[in-house]
Amino acid sequence: MDELEHLIDEARAAFEQAADVARLEQVKGQFLGKSGALAMLCKGLSSLPAEERPKAGARFNDVKNAIDKLLAQRREAIQAELLARKLEEEKLDVTLPGRDAGNGGLHPVTRTLERVTTLFESMGFDVADGPEIETDYYNFSALNQPEDHPARSMHDTFYLAGEHGPSEQYLLRTHTSPIQIHYMEANRPPIKVISPGRVYRVDSDATHSPMFHQLEGLWIDETATFANLKGTVREFLRRYFELDDLEVRFRPSYFPFTEPSAEIDMTFKDGWLEIGGCGMVHPQVLRNVKIDPDTYQGFAFGMGLDRLAMLRYGVNDLRLFFKGDLRFLRQFS
Ligand code: DAH
Repeated sequence: MDELEHLIDEARAAFEQAADVARLEQVKGQFLGKSGALAMLCKGLSSLPAEERPKAGARFNDVKNAIDKLLAQRREAIQAELLARKLEEEKLDVTLPGRDAGNGGLHPVTRTLERVTTLFESMGFDVADGPEIETDYYNFSALNQPEDHPARSMHDTFYLAGEHGPSEQYLLRTHTSPIQIHYMEANRPPIKVISPGRVYRVDSDATHSPMFHQLEGLWIDETATFANLKGTVREFLRRYFELDDLEVRFRPSYFPFTEPSAEIDMTFKDGWLEIGGCGMVHPQVLRNVKIDPDTYQGFAFGMGLDRLAMLRYGVNDLRLFFKGDLRFLRQFS
């Protein structure tokens, strides 16, 4: 009897010691297994006198049930501990601020491009684009740019390596004007189109980036005049800057693909600010695309899109647009 009583205490202590379920199952074997302590005692039952056996058997069963119960209790306790620990470790702090969905925003130059495009579309212009990798022909020759023009120098233009003849030389376009040629090759007058896009030059400082954006305009029909050119440019700039009294001044200049040519200045603060170039399309350029200059005439203009964006948003360093610094870019979204 004592021995059985003692066994319960022993089992309780051993179960308490088991730190996890796996260990508990091992310990269980020592007491309830086939060759465990209880099984050994059970064998002793058969050697008792017959009249004592029922009582001893009942007592034996009580002890076995008690140990079973201790085992089940310990198993539950271990599982509860495990759960409590898990809950503690994986605690969810509902007071933490939620994670931002991280909505994107349009780049300021993209916003400018969309705005400019909408304004010109409302003035009856189509929109076209062209390749950023050009041949020497489209970027220079077709635009009447002479062989010795400084823009053709290796220092000013990114040339692409390869086995090309002189006029098949590939380069990154230095302006959006070659789109004029592509468009006039594919479309007959009347033509009224703008072409925004990326352009490339070997240039880098606060107001120059090796990659920047331009906006090209072209209007060709039988009667498009220099007055129409000035009216178009002025109307656009007034609408873009939302300034009814903005003035535009044309300063005589030279471009190989226009004659006459002018720089476009607009009033800014107390003075004038250059915003682009323009002119009447040179007859030779029209001939290059098989448009008869005796029947058709027109004008072209080119402006810096980034410059337009800088002025509208009050940005003083062009390079900020292309650094990808989110602290800067987020201000526009
Ligand atoms: N392509 C010229 C440049 O990048 C800008 C320009 C001047 C464009 C006169 C024109 C134009 O269409 O008529 O400097």
